[in-house]
Amino acid sequence: MAKYRIALLPGDGIGNDVMNAARIVLDKVALDADYPYGDIGWEFWKKEGDPLPPRTLQLLKETDCCLFGAVTSKPKEEAAKELLPRLQGKGFSYFSPIVRLRQEFNLRTNLRPCKAYPGNPLNYQDNIDLVVFRENTECLYVGVEFYPMPPSLKKLLLELHPKMKAFEPVPEDEMALSCRIFTKKACQNIVRDAFEYAKKNGYKTVTVVEKPNVIRETSGMMIREARKVAKQYPDIDLWEANIDAMCMWLIKNPEQYGVLVSSNMFGDIISDLCAQLVGGLGFASSGNIGDRYAVFEPTHGSAPKYAGQHKVNPIAMILSAKLMLDWLGETDKAGAIENAVTRIIQDGKVRTYDMGGTSTSLEMAKAVASIV
Ligand code: NAI
Ligand code: MG
Repeated sequence: MAKYRIALLPGDGIGNDVMNAARIVLDKVALDADYPYGDIGWEFWKKEGDPLPPRTLQLLKETDCCLFGAVTSKPKEEAAKELLPRLQGKGFSYFSPIVRLRQEFNLRTNLRPCKAYPGNPLNYQDNIDLVVFRENTECLYVGVEFYPMPPSLKKLLLELHPKMKAFEPVPEDEMALSCRIFTKKACQNIVRDAFEYAKKNGYKTVTVVEKPNVIRETSGMMIREARKVAKQYPDIDLWEANIDAMCMWLIKNPEQYGVLVSSNMFGDIISDLCAQLVGGLGFASSGNIGDRYAVFEPTHGSAPKYAGQHKVNPIAMILSAKLMLDWLGETDKAGAIENAVTRIIQDGKVRTYDMGGTSTSLEMAKAVASIV
């Protein structure tokens, strides 16, 4: 029996293309692993009314971790229309399978390293080495949302909060509510993960990115917990920044920052910004990490217009596989992959379209694999 069992979920569109590419590199590093494939994505929503079928959840429960490509997601009404006729009107409701995976397996930490590899023509500037820690299970992504506003809830809010008065005259079907829920535990966990990473990898600062001057209770809780956690790491500075200002600072002086930590929504925003500073979605890898399970995925989506062409950049996916090896403790193999990626980028002979070249996803993967 192999040492590891790793689920591969290619998903939709270019998820398949980049998975094929990553597989070439994984096979080359010869990890002692079995790679069972699983179903996820739009096809299964349309055919089965569930983009994350129970058999896939079962498969994940029987594996050590998972490498995931990308899925297509569409707004509620559009999703309902695309169901097979026999499934329509049966009460199926679309919910993002990746958000569900994060919740089902309590993958509470989203790790997104953004490094400007020397020689990448897409770098915004050199010397960028940012690592975003994004809380992955709470905030506006909990899915506690209302439309139309239930009258009982409106009444309760009017009783409980004076600021609600402004909305009293608004009809229920003209207002919507999305709950931003934070817990102390989740705030502590994400900040601690960020500090531990900073300590282990030699970063001097952790910047907590929120908006406590306006969103006092939730962002306020994150900042207060961050200050407490930071006391346990006297050698690492805690910096505090507002999300809006941070977007500006990251464009102005990205080289000054190291580890960034934030809640789900703001973390999502800054990690896309950071990804663009180092070459965009083709370079942005990520890990969704829990206490016992983890799912690694490129940050990009299914890019339907490139699906099946093996044209997109597989580096984000290959670096996600690298993060996976790190998490498994296979740090030599992980390092070998990153070194190979670094050399291929520096060499500049093999470049996908986003880097101004004409190489395919598979040519890029083979080039990396050839020097791993
Ligand atoms: P996207 O990330 O799929 O693509 C946007 C654009 O970025 C592409 O058209 C392409 O120009 C570029 N791009 C993306 N990946 C690239 C790569 N590896 N190499 C080079 N260029 C790359 O985002 P979009 O178009 O907004 O969403 C498409 C679908 O993906 C939607 O259904 C969306 O809901 C879904 N999505 C899924 C995610 C996931 O599975 N985790 C994350 C983001 C979007
Ligand atoms: Mg995103």
